[in-house]
Amino acid sequence: MLPALGTLIRNSENKALEILSVVTDSVRCFRIVMPTPRRETMNEGKRRSQDDSERRPYKIPKISSEEKRKKASFNTEQNTSNILSSLSINDNKETKSSETPVCNGNAVLVVKHYNSILSESGSRHKSRIFYMRNFNNWIKSILINTYLTRIRSKYVHPINALDICCGKGGDLFKWKTGYMKKLIFVDLADVSVRECQNRYENILRKCSWNKEHLFAAEFITADCTKEQIRKKFKDPSISLDMVSCQFAFHYCFESLEQAECMMKNASECLKPEGYFIGTIPNAYELVSRWHRCDGNTFGNDIYNVEFLCDKTNPPLFGAKYYFQLEGVVNCPEFLVYLPVFIKLASKFGLELIMFERFDKFYEDKMVDGVNLLRKINVFECYPPWNGRTLGKAEKDYEHAKKYMQTHPNCRDIGTLSQPEWEVVSLYAVFAFQKKKTKWNNEGKPEYV
Ligand SMILES: C[S@@+](CC[C@H](N)C(=O)[O-])C[C@H]1O[C@@H](n2cnc3c(N)ncnc32)[C@H](O)[C@@H]1O
Repeated sequence: MLPALGTLIRNSENKALEILSVVTDSVRCFRIVMPTPRRETMNEGKRRSQDDSERRPYKIPKISSEEKRKKASFNTEQNTSNILSSLSINDNKETKSSETPVCNGNAVLVVKHYNSILSESGSRHKSRIFYMRNFNNWIKSILINTYLTRIRSKYVHPINALDICCGKGGDLFKWKTGYMKKLIFVDLADVSVRECQNRYENILRKCSWNKEHLFAAEFITADCTKEQIRKKFKDPSISLDMVSCQFAFHYCFESLEQAECMMKNASECLKPEGYFIGTIPNAYELVSRWHRCDGNTFGNDIYNVEFLCDKTNPPLFGAKYYFQLEGVVNCPEFLVYLPVFIKLASKFGLELIMFERFDKFYEDKMVDGVNLLRKINVFECYPPWNGRTLGKAEKDYEHAKKYMQTHPNCRDIGTLSQPEWEVVSLYAVFAFQKKKTKWNNEGKPEYV
């Protein structure tokens, strides 16, 4: 049931985002107050690297052609377009065979880690990051819906999509409400793919009892950074309207070859004007926090990041860190430097149309997504109804307390704890759009 007056507050480090939701009959209005948020968008990141030469984590590297692949780093002089255009991209090279390659290096750790995570049960409610996970699900839902709506506004055809690095199928219901025709789910972790398929089959059974439509689906176990996944599709000539890669693209930045392969997989079946969307750790924010801490480790009660590369000279590929999040993720990840991401994508005909921090994206979309915010329980009530917050310390709710003190008529508010907000503000959403492909005399693709 909606409270007569519900207030939602967010707080991030030295800043607070306050959202006031006033319910007047059936009309809802939102007021947003956001004192001096510190945001490093892609442009700000660039600007910072120009005028802060001491701490520039992202200054563009100068690398010899010999060293290009191995030693590309963020930290020597040269302009972005030079270095990025000199990256060797296998535009036209067929990526390996469709045989499953030997799972090695980081892939072994990823498979071991994700296969060992138990699926959600009733215990999820007790998780310290319960609301944060709901917040992340809200972001993904809104992102997927935004681009499905754009496709529908232009075309009437049934929609096909690829969920690359699908995990256990956390987004199955998001696709279900999208009225899709076909979904292809791919992940490296076999146990996750099996669980995704089981969950799909359970939903399918329920849908057929209720005579509801559910999309057709295909499930593939593959390393998207090493194999050409199209060859594993039932119909390798399928045209996709959308490719979604949620919380996973950063794994491919282990090496240039892997990043190329992943990008090719994301792009090659997309129709012209189709979308490649996703969520990703925001390297600008990660590096900024890294530079604000002594040493290579930072975090709070619920997350911890440890960098394992040179702080003054992180490489463009293989800039490794460990991200630990209360029983959720704990295997090596890699920084995705946005200009390289954009350049790689452009080599495969993808043009960046949106890159936003989660907090900014949330701010932009919360009015449209208000019903879902409530439905999936994105906010923790403060003061808590049962006297207990999920956060351990009172200090985790300082922002909420302060708000209550200055708004004495307010009975309760909805919020995320400070530690949770520090995690969500590390992430960003992105969307690329596919250009038209023309084939030149040498049989190579050109994108227009
Ligand atoms: C954080 S989970 C996200 C799962 C899902 N997209 C979601 O949002 O719920 C990251 C997923 O990426 C998968 N992954 C990591 N590296 C991969 C690779 N090289 N190829 C395919 N999947 C990979 C992992 O197995 C894991 O399921």
